[in-house]
Amino acid sequence: MTPALHDSPFLRACRREPVPTTPIWLLRQAGRYQSWYQEIRARVPFLDLCKTPDLVAEVTTRAVEQLGVDAAILFSDILLIVEPLGQELSFEKGDGPAIANPVRSGKDVDRLRTPDVGELGFVFEAVRRTRAALPATIPLIGFCGAPFTVAAYMCEGSTSRDFLLTKALMVRDEGAWHALLERITMASIDYLNGQIDAGVQAVQLFDSWVGALGPADYRRYVLPHVRRLVQGLRPLVPVIHFGTGTAALLELMKEAGGDVIGLDFRVELDEAWQRLGDVAVMGNLDPAILMATPEVIRARARRILDQAAFRPGHIFNLGHGIFQETPVENAIALVDAVHELSAR
Ligand code: CP3
Repeated sequence: MTPALHDSPFLRACRREPVPTTPIWLLRQAGRYQSWYQEIRARVPFLDLCKTPDLVAEVTTRAVEQLGVDAAILFSDILLIVEPLGQELSFEKGDGPAIANPVRSGKDVDRLRTPDVGELGFVFEAVRRTRAALPATIPLIGFCGAPFTVAAYMCEGSTSRDFLLTKALMVRDEGAWHALLERITMASIDYLNGQIDAGVQAVQLFDSWVGALGPADYRRYVLPHVRRLVQGLRPLVPVIHFGTGTAALLELMKEAGGDVIGLDFRVELDEAWQRLGDVAVMGNLDPAILMATPEVIRARARRILDQAAFRPGHIFNLGHGIFQETPVENAIALVDAVHELSAR
């Protein structure tokens, strides 16, 4: 890695080293709230966009340039991995993701393919092209879904509120559940190591729906798989472990692994960090605050920076993905405010 990347505020914060200003990037920083993204999507379906390395590089880089953030996240999706696992994935207009052949039983788990992540070679090529297109000072974050969240989509077949089909498999057939999570975990290890080899500077696990579980079930049904995933990664880049609805799970998420724990907006950052102890934290502005005026956004950013109190190891971010309705100038105002208010 070049010194410019190694000493970037984002990677320094991941290592809990002092920084000149608090680094910031935004969950889902490239997307439909940007008019130029909508123009590209008017021509190209979402999955085709994810599978076209030059377009991925363009979209990823353009979000960084427009917002002035300190890190890039590869434009992709956590659900791409279900295709090499043998599922049929589509994104219908307005409906979000759909999987035509969801997993509902142990038999369905047995029918999954042993994945060859080489089938996701377009992602690795996108990493190489994006790295080449980005400014030399901006780290690139690769990612995958964490095992529970990927399993939830694989079982439900779409976004869900209560995850009843997922939990039904979990509690009716524990053997099949662990077999499913193990398959996802092994594929995710290969997938993230492929992204690392292709040139990302950090990786993030998205456990977006893990807040559906209580602590005892997290420990029994999920934690061993996340730990194995983290331990299977090449120890070359920091790991960000993000989830939402995790107020009751933070200590267990840390136990599972990660150099940085991503906080959602339902916790106070200072209390959460106190509970977590010696680890970096990322977060945690409610993305809905970006609907407010620049003055309110600035005040709410200051509140989070005050909670972090310039301790090494804070990466500013939203507590979940940015809304489509967000005025893009408000996202820019947040980035500017964080840089200005956090200058040491
Ligand atoms: O952050 C970024 O800019 C990188 C790109 C990124 C996307 N998805 C692009 C995307 C990342 C990191 C993701 C991760 C992802 N995908 C998650 C975890 C993050 C989270 O928000 O909790 C989840 C749960 C998914 C699954 C997924 N993909 C859903 C539920 C949807 C539909 C939601 C919607 O807004 O329609 C997607 C589609 C998707 N992924 C879009 C984008 C920009 C919208 C697609 C479009 O252009 O129409």
